[in-house]
Amino acid sequence: MDENIVIKLKGLTKRYGYGDTESFALKDFDLTIKRGEFIMIMGPSGCGKTTLLNIIGLLDRATDGEYILNGEDVASISAARRAKLRAKKIGFIFQNFNLIEDLPIIENVALPLVYVGQPRTVRLKNASDALHRFHLGEREYYLPSQLSGGQQQRVAIARAIVGHPEIILADEPTGNLDSRSSNIVMEELKAIHEEGNTIIMVTHNPALTAYATRVINMLDGQIDTDIKTVSDQNLPQPISVKIKKKKQNKRRKK
Ligand SMILES: Nc1ncnc2c1ncn2[C@@H]1O[C@H](COP(=O)(O)OP(=O)(O)OP(=O)(O)O)[C@@H](O)[C@H]1O
Ligand SMILES: [Mg+2]
Repeated sequence: MDENIVIKLKGLTKRYGYGDTESFALKDFDLTIKRGEFIMIMGPSGCGKTTLLNIIGLLDRATDGEYILNGEDVASISAARRAKLRAKKIGFIFQNFNLIEDLPIIENVALPLVYVGQPRTVRLKNASDALHRFHLGEREYYLPSQLSGGQQQRVAIARAIVGHPEIILADEPTGNLDSRSSNIVMEELKAIHEEGNTIIMVTHNPALTAYATRVINMLDGQIDTDIKTVSDQNLPQPISVKIKKKKQNKRRKK
């Protein structure tokens, strides 16, 4: 399989109900995602955007179809394996931040690292580094309620990237933010993308598609339009690939 492909969906279907009450949130959905793509997904309410993101993020399962993640068929793996893959590979950002209200933000950011097995002191150090990156270093022991919406979303981004996942999924991450905070969040996502991460983001705001390398419009659980604005060879390379190539070049020179 092509090493540049991170996600492949084939014939993905999510059905609710049976018989007269049967409805489809996703219908025979095909999508191939390359490493380093920044995909924005748009479409009317109820067309299946969140369903798609939750399935890609291993929070939900399709009723039917194939889901290949990094060459592994993950459609029917065990719950334990799903949880492990999710912790290592995927970072989530939600519209309503989804922070735990009675935990200081440093503890919120450190949480995903529990699942990758880091000791507590290392977790807190990494969480602190992530918060500093998003200019929240001085507020590590604030509770989420003591921060603005934009700051809370930056905490959520720090939490999403703290374990260095290669895929970031964001479901309307700027939906609850004013335009200034929204711009800051988008600039952070842009920087994360330029480091070579793959980002899949749902938005209702057409202005934000300027950040994307590909824009997909969905309709009734299917792809309506799919437009790449950056060609595959111009996508940012993942840091791991860059290191590998550097090593190969060095060997060649020797
Ligand atoms: N648990 C459920 N039971 C039955 N139908 C569901 C369930 N969850 C979602 N659906 C249906 O699946 C369809 C897709 O929902 P989804 O949340 O993916 O839409 P969306 O595109 O994210 O919409 P929005 O823009 O409003 O967030 C909707 O018609 C919804 O009613
Ligand atoms: Mg939704």
